[in-house]
Amino acid sequence: GLRLDKTNMIGMIIPDVTNPFFPAVVRGAEDVAFANGYRLILCNTDNDHSKEIVHLNELRTFLPSGLIVIPSNFSDLTAQAESYRKSGTAVVCVDRLPKGWDGDTVTADNEKGAYEATSYVLRQGHRQLAMVMGPRHLTNAQDRLAGFKRALHEKKIPIGPEYIQEASFDQHGGYAKTMLLLRMIPRPTVIFAANDMIAFGALLAFREAGLHCPEDISLIGFDNLQFAEMTSPPLSSVSQPGFQMGTSAAQILIDRVRGDDGPAKHLVLETALKIRDSVAPPS
Ligand code: RIB
Repeated sequence: GLRLDKTNMIGMIIPDVTNPFFPAVVRGAEDVAFANGYRLILCNTDNDHSKEIVHLNELRTFLPSGLIVIPSNFSDLTAQAESYRKSGTAVVCVDRLPKGWDGDTVTADNEKGAYEATSYVLRQGHRQLAMVMGPRHLTNAQDRLAGFKRALHEKKIPIGPEYIQEASFDQHGGYAKTMLLLRMIPRPTVIFAANDMIAFGALLAFREAGLHCPEDISLIGFDNLQFAEMTSPPLSSVSQPGFQMGTSAAQILIDRVRGDDGPAKHLVLETALKIRDSVAPPS
């Protein structure tokens, strides 16, 4: 029969090329791919699942050896992944997991990272907390919410559902939902932003509302982007190893291409709390 050889291409699908977290993952993946003789084809979905399906279908024409996918949402990608696997193309999912995914994964410990950030603001004396979580259908957003709630629960601190706002993982979502939270009575004394882009939007909202951070309201983010240390005040944030997520995903993929057919790998990377100046005890 007809046998199509794989090329030295690795397809990589990311949800938002404008968010600096994802280029960090791409750099990691590209480093390892390049060093091993592979080249990357990069596709951006703008968090649009229909675009993702088009990319998944069309990447096939490049006969890639493997795919690294950061899913746009919680849609089932099993059908696409199965058909790649059948033709011998390995698939690794990174950061967010699609529904029912049973293949290799590389994620951060989102629950623990959020738990540690929340425990830290509680230790600073905050009792009126709010969270701007990411999109509810994303597994990493769900895990960060779970960590936030676990820390509150542990200290028996109640929280009304209106203090947990869903937003897209970007500055627009962060701005809009922070504006809404600032009108609530009582006003939250601290906002946990589920990623730094949301936190940047929150800082803009604070400024427009005439509030100073951290004197009037505290803020903590997630991702620890390079820009986090350049905001005013410098943003405290949970760092997750984006670059390493990329290197690990590419390494797993290349191992698969070279014949590793062991059980699915689920690599969970550690997060670390980076304390800067955006959290102070409530006034
Ligand atoms: O900044 C983008 C966010 O969405 C990150 O926190 C990452 O985990 C991604 O899925």
